[in-house]
Amino acid sequence: MSQRQINILFLASEADPFVKIGGLGDVAGSLPPAIFDLSNDSVKYDIRLALPFYGVIKKKLPNLSKIGDFPLHTGGIIIQTSIYEHTLNGIPVYFIDGTPIKENDPVYGSNFVADAEKFVFFSLACLELPRFLKWRIDILHANDWHTALAIHQLSTQAVFRQSSPVPKKIITLHNLPFMGAGSEDALTRFGIEPADDPHLPTWARTIPLPMGLASADRIVPVSRSYAQEILTPDFGCGLESFFKSRSEKIMGIINGIDGSVWDPATDKFIKNNYNNESLTGKSICKATLLNEVGLQNQPHTPLIVLISRMDQQKGVDLAINSLKMIENQRWQAIILGSGDSKLENAAQDLENALPEKVRVKILFDSALSHRMYAGADIFLMPSRYEPCGLSQLISMRYGTLPVARSTGGLKDTIIDVDKHGHGTGFLFAEATVNETAKALKRSIESYSQQEKWNSLIKNAMVQDFSWKKSAQEYCTLYQNLIE
Ligand code: GLC
Repeated sequence: MSQRQINILFLASEADPFVKIGGLGDVAGSLPPAIFDLSNDSVKYDIRLALPFYGVIKKKLPNLSKIGDFPLHTGGIIIQTSIYEHTLNGIPVYFIDGTPIKENDPVYGSNFVADAEKFVFFSLACLELPRFLKWRIDILHANDWHTALAIHQLSTQAVFRQSSPVPKKIITLHNLPFMGAGSEDALTRFGIEPADDPHLPTWARTIPLPMGLASADRIVPVSRSYAQEILTPDFGCGLESFFKSRSEKIMGIINGIDGSVWDPATDKFIKNNYNNESLTGKSICKATLLNEVGLQNQPHTPLIVLISRMDQQKGVDLAINSLKMIENQRWQAIILGSGDSKLENAAQDLENALPEKVRVKILFDSALSHRMYAGADIFLMPSRYEPCGLSQLISMRYGTLPVARSTGGLKDTIIDVDKHGHGTGFLFAEATVNETAKALKRSIESYSQQEKWNSLIKNAMVQDFSWKKSAQEYCTLYQNLIE
């Protein structure tokens, strides 16, 4: 039997371990290798990742070899483009460089104009990559607004129009509210025509994400529930009617987590490894963590943690106010994260008000997050919207039960504990302080029944959140599209 080959170019604005700002980085760093690993005797997935060559990556990888240059002609301007190559768990990674990617600029800045130039350039340069590499692509797979224009522009490139069959276009949707507004001038400068899809509202026709969505063959939100939610005004960000017009092209696929990084049995950041058969290590992790942050080790007191970007999406305000509401109950809490200064201050105020119960760390500290996933009992995640969410998957893997809002990926991955004491976490419906507090109380009450609690922990720990199943769904999607 001959082996068939499917060539996929995967575009992202971040990918762990090269550069990671949020969940997209986790996904783009682990999904492509997981897809590559599904190659077998009958099909080989030649998947390759392209990233902008940011200053931070240059510092990390100073000795990368350049594999070539080409001039990018677009809208009457020419930008000299350079390609550098590296590998990630067996797959080729291309770093794209050119003047719009400035050495000292942050990956995502507050300057929309600079970001637009950078990502429009990157998207267009990626479209030249197959020709430069003399590598025919079957699938162009973009992620979020930063690379959506590659999807929009593909059909305008003569080389793809003439190639038969024309590559299929997929866009994975991690964060709909960020659409790339403010890119209008860059689009004009780079000579990119607006979208002309009549289902797109007029305002959306010159914004990169909707432009890409309009010409995608498949739109993949990162969970089934989120795929439904974006059809409604509450979550559709003004594109709900457009999404309805595309409903047969929308297909939710949940993210996985990287089991080589997130495993309490092997995690190098925790001193006492453990697994679902022996939880002794977990209790030691808890004691060590309490000691580290200067909270008293009190028996029979649940430790609640929140690890999050401090912003509205994540419901950090709900978390803080609900803890305040139940201040007379037995619990301790550690909050880790940074972002919106109002929320940072509110968290700090909570520690000041309840110094014997609460510790707040306003920072991004990956190693500490590992110790918190391991040492805590309850993981608080009251997100207002959550396309997928990775922290709840990690926390369950570590036997730390989530208290989370029943939305998007949270709803799809957490089984609400029922009256028989079966489940993997505690869900609540409304994004209100009251509901959050009620769910927290439910979890605290459940924690007091130690034996039942332990069986819940074990159940959460054995759920399969690996990439394998989701990567397989992407492979099936690729195959279906090109057949
Ligand atoms: C975004 C979403 C989050 C998702 C992540 C990876 O950060 O907000 O829910 O898990 O992307 O897809």
